[in-house]
Amino acid sequence: MRALTLKSNGQLVCDDSSGYGIILGDLSTASNWNIGQVLNGPVYGHVRKSFAEGRAPWPGICEGCHTFSGGGAPNDTLESRISLIVEPTLNCNLRCPSCLRIKEGKTRSGEWDLEPAKFEALLRSCAKNGIEVETVHYLGWGEPLLYAGLGALTRLVRKWHPHCIQEVTTSGSIADPTVLDDTDIDRLTVSCDGALQDSYVKYRRFGEIDQVFGLLDYVSRLKRKPFVEWKYILFEHNDSDEELALAQALAEGFSVDSLLFIITNSKRASKRYTIDNIRSFPMQFARGEISPAAALLTIRQSGRPVPEYSRLGDLADFSFFLDQAQITISNILELRGWSLTADGAYVDRIECYDGPDLLGWARLGHRRSDVSRGRPNAQGPDCGFAFKIPIDAGFAPQSLQFRVSSGEACGRFAATLEFTGA
Ligand SMILES: C[S@@+](CC[C@H](N)C(=O)[O-])C[C@H]1O[C@@H](n2cnc3c(N)ncnc32)[C@H](O)[C@@H]1O
Repeated sequence: MRALTLKSNGQLVCDDSSGYGIILGDLSTASNWNIGQVLNGPVYGHVRKSFAEGRAPWPGICEGCHTFSGGGAPNDTLESRISLIVEPTLNCNLRCPSCLRIKEGKTRSGEWDLEPAKFEALLRSCAKNGIEVETVHYLGWGEPLLYAGLGALTRLVRKWHPHCIQEVTTSGSIADPTVLDDTDIDRLTVSCDGALQDSYVKYRRFGEIDQVFGLLDYVSRLKRKPFVEWKYILFEHNDSDEELALAQALAEGFSVDSLLFIITNSKRASKRYTIDNIRSFPMQFARGEISPAAALLTIRQSGRPVPEYSRLGDLADFSFFLDQAQITISNILELRGWSLTADGAYVDRIECYDGPDLLGWARLGHRRSDVSRGRPNAQGPDCGFAFKIPIDAGFAPQSLQFRVSSGEACGRFAATLEFTGA
């Protein structure tokens, strides 16, 4: 209850997996269209009531959704801040075997290209209701860079929500990378599952890897360069040691900010690398990461710090708050929170320890406008952090220690955790 998905036909839906069939509202171009009628209407009333009673709002559907978590607590930010997933178009030039786009296209009514006036109605209404649109992610089942007016959409967002972070996820297999010139985006995720044409095209049917590399090269030379992530899904056909090493060398050459390998549970998933041996992945690239796909990130257990036994909050030199600790079905420990120096500056690095063992480290960069609104001296809203730490099956930490640093200075915090869920 912190994100809404907008389909290209103007329907607001729950999420881009199972929730795609649950219509929460319909956008119109009417100047008095009001988001309040959706968020405070009967559908959301049903969602809130169901969660309060510990039930899934649509039994049989919600459980199949990538973001539904039986062990998780509802996180309802809709009154003050919201993330949007926007599908500019349902058109695509590729035919990826597991993609539901064709099926969706057969059952869906309405336009395949988003009407900018409908999008603006949503942005305007959020602004007028005091709801900050924190992120807009152009995604959906189509290919966003095939939508002719993407630049115009990004400018509408800037007009109504100037601080919003805008992200595009693209296959990158498009003939002309200069389409990006007209856009105002902060993050670009390029879905490129391979480093060689022969293996790449097995999943990305009709894709041309040289076009993807052309786009990565083009972006690396832009004056206003977005944060670029190369997203590489691990299949049986693209997981050889040679190809994984080549991808990492290419990522270095294109100066990408992140190379993210994804463990999927879909057909033809890699058998060499699975959630059980995630820690043995041959990572050489300093900005490389590996994560299970969203479908494997369902929360199994939710934890919270016990205030009386934890050392968190505002201390002399640093503030450090841990809001959420969760363990996924794929044995990933996710920790979310925020940190600032006592002067309100961003901290450089946060390390997480289990006793003497360093479990992982993180930087800030997640938007937390709620924090910057409440702390006028904060350097900015991007003071949130998120750890995703692979852990052993069955492990649920009872306590964690954190080392927060800024330049030479450092602060130490500790959390005693209580987990619920199976
Ligand atoms: C359906 S695509 C549409 C956006 C864009 N055309 C693209 O290819 O990135 C949305 C996302 O689904 C992901 N995806 C596609 N097939 C997948 C699979 N078998 N397992 C996990 N993620 C997948 C892609 O990597 C991409 O990030």
